[in-house]
Amino acid sequence: MLLTVNGKTHDLDVEPEMPLLWVLRDELGITGPKYGCGKALCGACTVHLNGSAVRSCVLPVGAVQARRHHHRGTGQPRSAARRAVGLD
Ligand code: FES
Repeated sequence: MLLTVNGKTHDLDVEPEMPLLWVLRDELGITGPKYGCGKALCGACTVHLNGSAVRSCVLPVGAVQARRHHHRGTGQPRSAARRAVGLD
């Protein structure tokens, strides 16, 4: 599965059910997003996905792929205030 993070595309061999947070931290070594509650409550794991803030602790990486394709070509502007991790 291909995942673009901060403008760099990675080819990953992970299960689609794996939470995005663990893909970022364990597979890519991106430690900015933190584990806090694991229940989408605290925001420690928040990243930007196509300009929208998402809780990566509860978002399966497979859903990132689906969203990426869903939003492509909508003409929505990207957020100017991207956080440390941005996924396209
Ligand atoms: S770890 Fe608390 S919202 Fe994700």
